[in-house]
Amino acid sequence: MIRVDLDHAADFDGWREAARRLAMASVAPEDVLWQVKGEEQDLFAAPANPLPEAQEGEAPRVPRGFPDLARYVVCHNDPARFALLYRLLLRLQDQPRLLELATDDDVHLANAMSKAVSRERHKMTAFVRFREVAGLEGEDAAFVAWFEPEHHVVRLTAPFFRDRFANMRWSILTPDVCVHWDRAALSFTAGVTQDQAPGSDHLEEFWKTYYASIFNPARLKVATMKREMPVRYWKNLPESSLIPSLIERAEGRSTAMVEAAPSPAPKRSPKIIARTEAARTPIEPGTGLGGLRHAAESCKRCPLWANATQTVFGEGGADAELLFVGEQPGDNEDLVGRPFIGPAGQMFDRALAEAGIARDRAYVTNAVKHFKNEPRGKRRIHKSPNISEINACRWWLEQETALLKPRLAIALGASAVRSLTGESHAVTKVRGQVLASPFAGDVFVTVHPSYILRLREPEDREREFAAFVSDLTKARQLAYGA
Ligand code: URA
Repeated sequence: MIRVDLDHAADFDGWREAARRLAMASVAPEDVLWQVKGEEQDLFAAPANPLPEAQEGEAPRVPRGFPDLARYVVCHNDPARFALLYRLLLRLQDQPRLLELATDDDVHLANAMSKAVSRERHKMTAFVRFREVAGLEGEDAAFVAWFEPEHHVVRLTAPFFRDRFANMRWSILTPDVCVHWDRAALSFTAGVTQDQAPGSDHLEEFWKTYYASIFNPARLKVATMKREMPVRYWKNLPESSLIPSLIERAEGRSTAMVEAAPSPAPKRSPKIIARTEAARTPIEPGTGLGGLRHAAESCKRCPLWANATQTVFGEGGADAELLFVGEQPGDNEDLVGRPFIGPAGQMFDRALAEAGIARDRAYVTNAVKHFKNEPRGKRRIHKSPNISEINACRWWLEQETALLKPRLAIALGASAVRSLTGESHAVTKVRGQVLASPFAGDVFVTVHPSYILRLREPEDREREFAAFVSDLTKARQLAYGA
């Protein structure tokens, strides 16, 4: 029997080095006793041999996902976890695709353990509550939390807290291990008991106030709440003392919310209305598409201008007979200032060509003329416009339509349908139909080209592209009778 002493309960590096040496010396799994220092259980076992020395030679090979799986499995609280991983490592040498067999007992168990650890890691990021403690002389305050994880996730989760609270000095104390951050490095010390953790303080009151203010009685779902925030964590959460009374009062509070009369409009609302009206002053007669485009450059009818580079106005000749309406400019259109020139635009151009429609004889515009997006890091994530943004921007579409007087308007997707008809329809229900617009006459409905771009399977994309071309062909025939 060979005994492996691991430094701590989640010692992945120790397990990996030992497993490598054992596998290279062809030691069978049943001949290895895995122990964590300080947790030695088998005191009466026969004396064990030490780990074989590292050998020259080919190290065991593993598929790409195995190290990540093992990193999570070692954090599980099952004492058999190290043996399971070593068994898997040996089996992988003969069956390199073993991890793909989800029904294999060892693989199934390892996946279940990894999932449990991942869940516990997530709970730790959500349910740790720091309390402020006075700093030692000359030092500012530190923050200390008490947490009782079910698995050994403290080391795995520590980098999350380091990155989140980089400017604070903090410690998370647990019965298993404690982690400390001094604004420069993480360190770990032995676990402690709860009486060594600081008690209630003003942060506790802060949490209670915050929690009570975000608690929405109308959304109360006790079963979901217990699933997402299992009862075993409640005892260490300051806000948990509020939960029973908030649940009890929830029904009454939501009834009161429903019955409450709408609050009167604020005193400043006439000023806001006057400002909005000024922005709606009609364009001078005879302005033409060029003047309209110029006026739209400074449009502030809704807040979307603030996050966009520029207004992307419609494009096409005043004699265009087909009016195509999309949703809103995308990232590329926002930067260049022209509609439908990015990936969706290129697909649209191909479909137009196949349907026998010359783009330069059509007018192409959008329901919303600013790119709605949410900055995330260096990227801008597309967000669909809401009804009030579509309504605010419809004024421009009305002006464009009044000047163009198209034979047919073609709505590309649901936002365009909403803008042109004033009604919300699921495109799947009205695709291929002609709806009536209060200002644009007949509206033929088809999908937005981005819908086709989002399809993952090439054959689905091909089929939907052909259907889109066939819709556009039908639109051309409707407009020109041929
Ligand atoms: N999607 C749209 O709806 N319009 C564009 O101009 C580009 C992409």
